[in-house]
Amino acid sequence: MSLAATLEPERFREIMYQLLNRSAAVVQRYSGTVDKFTGDGLMALFGAPVALEDHALRACTAAVEIQSIARALADEVHQRDEVDLQLRIGLNSGDVIAGEMGSGPNSYTVSGHPVGMAQRMESAAQAGGILCSEPTARLAGPSAVFGPVELISVKGGSHPIQARRLQSVESDHLVLGRDDGPLVGRDTEMTHLLSVFDAQQLTAVSIVGDAGVGKSRIIREFTAGVHGRGATTVITRCESHAEHVPLHALSRMLRGLFGLHGLDNLAARARVAERVKGVPGIRHADRQLVLDLLSISDPSALAPAISADSRRARLVGVMARVANTGSSRTAFIVEDLHWIDAASEEVLAAFAAMLAAEHAMLVGTSRPGHDGPLHHTAQASIVLSPLDGTATATLAAALVGGHPTASTIADRVAEASGGNPFFVEEIVRDLVGRSVLEGSRGQYRLVGRLTSIAVPNTVQSVIAARIDRLRPDEKSALNAGSVIGSGFDLDELRALLPDTRTVTLDGLVATELIDQIQFVPAPRYRFRHPLVRTVCYESQLRSTRASLHRRLAISLQQRNGEAAEQDAALIAKHFEAAGELAEAYSWYMRAASWLHKRDDGAARDSWQRARTIADRLPVEEGGTDRRIAPRAQLSFSAWVVGGDDEEENCFDELRALTAKSADKLPMALGMAGRVYSLITNQGRSRDAATLAAELDELYYTIDASAADRAEILTAIALAEYMTCRFDKALQTIQRLREIGEDLTGYDQGPVMGMSGVIKVMSGHRLDGLRDLEVARRLGLESDPVTLAGAVAYWVDLVVFGFELVGDAMMTETARALRLAEEYGDGSEFATYGLSIARWARGTALLNCGPARRSEALELLRLSREFGRDVAVGPIDAQIAAARRWRGDIDDELVDSLKAKVVSGLDAGDFTTYFGYGATELVKLLLARAREDDLKSARRIATQLAAETSAISQPALELWPLLCRIMLTDVEGDTVCHAAALARYRDIAEALDARGHLVTVAKISKAGTS
Ligand SMILES: Nc1ncnc2c1ncn2[C@@H]1O[C@H](COP(=O)(O)OP(=O)(O)OP(=O)(O)O)[C@@H](O)[C@H]1O
Ligand SMILES: [Mg+2]
Repeated sequence: MSLAATLEPERFREIMYQLLNRSAAVVQRYSGTVDKFTGDGLMALFGAPVALEDHALRACTAAVEIQSIARALADEVHQRDEVDLQLRIGLNSGDVIAGEMGSGPNSYTVSGHPVGMAQRMESAAQAGGILCSEPTARLAGPSAVFGPVELISVKGGSHPIQARRLQSVESDHLVLGRDDGPLVGRDTEMTHLLSVFDAQQLTAVSIVGDAGVGKSRIIREFTAGVHGRGATTVITRCESHAEHVPLHALSRMLRGLFGLHGLDNLAARARVAERVKGVPGIRHADRQLVLDLLSISDPSALAPAISADSRRARLVGVMARVANTGSSRTAFIVEDLHWIDAASEEVLAAFAAMLAAEHAMLVGTSRPGHDGPLHHTAQASIVLSPLDGTATATLAAALVGGHPTASTIADRVAEASGGNPFFVEEIVRDLVGRSVLEGSRGQYRLVGRLTSIAVPNTVQSVIAARIDRLRPDEKSALNAGSVIGSGFDLDELRALLPDTRTVTLDGLVATELIDQIQFVPAPRYRFRHPLVRTVCYESQLRSTRASLHRRLAISLQQRNGEAAEQDAALIAKHFEAAGELAEAYSWYMRAASWLHKRDDGAARDSWQRARTIADRLPVEEGGTDRRIAPRAQLSFSAWVVGGDDEEENCFDELRALTAKSADKLPMALGMAGRVYSLITNQGRSRDAATLAAELDELYYTIDASAADRAEILTAIALAEYMTCRFDKALQTIQRLREIGEDLTGYDQGPVMGMSGVIKVMSGHRLDGLRDLEVARRLGLESDPVTLAGAVAYWVDLVVFGFELVGDAMMTETARALRLAEEYGDGSEFATYGLSIARWARGTALLNCGPARRSEALELLRLSREFGRDVAVGPIDAQIAAARRWRGDIDDELVDSLKAKVVSGLDAGDFTTYFGYGATELVKLLLARAREDDLKSARRIATQLAAETSAISQPALELWPLLCRIMLTDVEGDTVCHAAALARYRDIAEALDARGHLVTVAKISKAGTS
């Protein structure tokens, strides 16, 4: 074959695999058997080992169909490789010696003169043609159309022999192989779906319907329609056993998108590189992310050093770019969303939202009740109801056929099925299995007693009855397969059942319980329908199933080697199902630490499962430590995902469990996370400070890495800073810095920012600005979230009245925002960074003059959407202030700010940010001047003065003084006004508080604020 010489070996093999797999599937569909693969060809048998009356016609039909799929493949190959692919087929019939030769598992074969003759027919056939020997042409009957008799001289033969070219097989007489049969009663849905695809307006559509109602069937028809339009499809099937395996569906989708199926790691890497080449906006690092997620990156490559959590957003970006730049349109199909893992669904929903309708569309199918983000992204939903009476009757009649003995059966089947097409098919298969019916699709005869057509009343019980009738070897293979998943290959199966033979699987294919979906390089099978797998899985003895799960877990572990991390959650799940809890626990923990760098939410799912399992393990043998570890991780990471209802509970459990343990590190880390969460998610700084004091004591008892120590001290310093204990915070920061050279930019950036603000507010302006600069440099070296934090600390000084917006700040806030935006906005950590960057930029813009106020307001609004305006509403206060400048007082905003300030003051939850918000509120109340407003303003000012005098930080005293200046002005109390102004000016001058000094100048000039 010249193809082999023209193409790269890799590509040649790929084309051969496709051709052989597609051809073998056709053979199987017509009940033939693939006897052997020969590198660039295959030999198939019809009529053995299963006797078939019409074997010759079946062989002819299969040959015609194989030529037609070969032509379709040839078109693809021609377009891509510019080479011609042509296939020759030879057919012969005769008596052969058939049977098991040797003792291997695939030992069934045939030999004899007719086999050699078939090979000669093949070599004499024209490229793209089918050549049949006379016996075959005779046996095939009138439906097969042949050309005239030709005389063929064959290698090694003394006389020429007679042969005829097969031209066609009349379709009316096609043997009904195991195809789908005609689609019934779904015209409206199909038209709707295809017209949506053609309109190129929607990017996500969902199809919802009960099990067996026909979702996958609609998808198959849709796929054919899409291919007919020259577009491509990428299909991802979610699986029930992978529901809790984070990112499982996503990695499948990526494999489909990049066409990696069946490639080894090296070839897969090359394919990804080739696919992204020339796609604008995809950087090397992005490609690395894809490889990393699929665990196919070069073992020597370092894990991508970007923020763990923002990978998700970046991946979405890569996928969308690839999808949006293809030369042909792509339909992404995600089947069985009710089983998708949560992490994948979030990514895919974001992906769907970024698709350009003219390039791609995503269609998801699910059973009712699925309510995930992808379902919500769908702009149109097609609900599949059961087929109506007429359609069901048509379907049953087409399936059973018109044989006189079977004519009454179709109606009974239809009625019992309740309009569920799968039920219709299963009832018929059951009747065949019970020898009531005999024949094939569309051609059944009644051979048993009519009275025995009692139909089980659920589709599950029909399937169970069919499984029950299998031979023991078939049943074991099916059981083992169902433990592996909805699809399995021969090697996987043999890892569980070493003696599995292909004939057993062929038998299961013949009973239509499974399909063979791949033949070369390795046989691969899939359950005919998800329900078959479910029934099979559930009907096994629990102990058998557990031992299969255990063997599978062990084999996955052995087989995967370097890729084991990606499968850690899957391995854990199988150990869990096997009842091996200790193993399951460690694999979930392993999965979580792998995921932690990739997806925080997904990692938390794995810790959550580890926690549940740990609780079932006996307390002795280290059980307590196992209970502690996942709880420590969950408590530590809760703040990043915005906290959850369970957070407090989990932390309390951690505390109780660690009370007696000697190792205090898990408790300390959990506590640090809790401190962050109380501050960032709940605005409870006072509680955070109490906890931080306890944490500080623990700190001296732990043995921890530099990174862990830095996390803990940062939490303590933040709590001290937030509760205005600046000296304490500076000491804590100093302790952190003394950890020394093991610290990274990520470890030190936040505290340097904090240190800078404290120093400036304490009157050490230059020193403080230097620290802030260091913080920004560390942020630049580390990641955009740390940078955003550093810039935000600097901008906070504007809010605190200690800094004016200058050119440098404008440039730096713009850069921080740009980097945070590029960093992606899908993941929690990146979103958090983006919200801080927006706050910083918005605040800078707002305070640099009126020109860019609306842009500023929009940024602040977006930042606030993140829901972390915790420090008694500085964002609300800013927004309200900006509107007040425009002369517009928003009552709702004022009232909500008032509620926050009043409750904060009443609870004594006074933070560093509080004074600004409270003072802004007083201004607003005085400007609004409603009946109670003056009274409220006075009350707030008094309480504020009391709080700040207790704290004794001169910088914070400026706020109650400013309130007093405004109040005395309104009240006309000139004496007190002058006294307050003088004190205010003195402090502002002493501390070099530049914003406050501007205010002083304004008040002095205008006599009012
Ligand atoms: N309208 C139809 N006409 C003919 N056959 C149909 C029709 N709908 C479904 N079938 C057949 O019924 C069987 C079950 O359908 P299908 O697998 O599409 O169900 P499903 O909704 O995807 O179920 P599940 O939720 O379990 O995946 C298939 O063999 C399919 O070919
Ligand atoms: Mg389906």
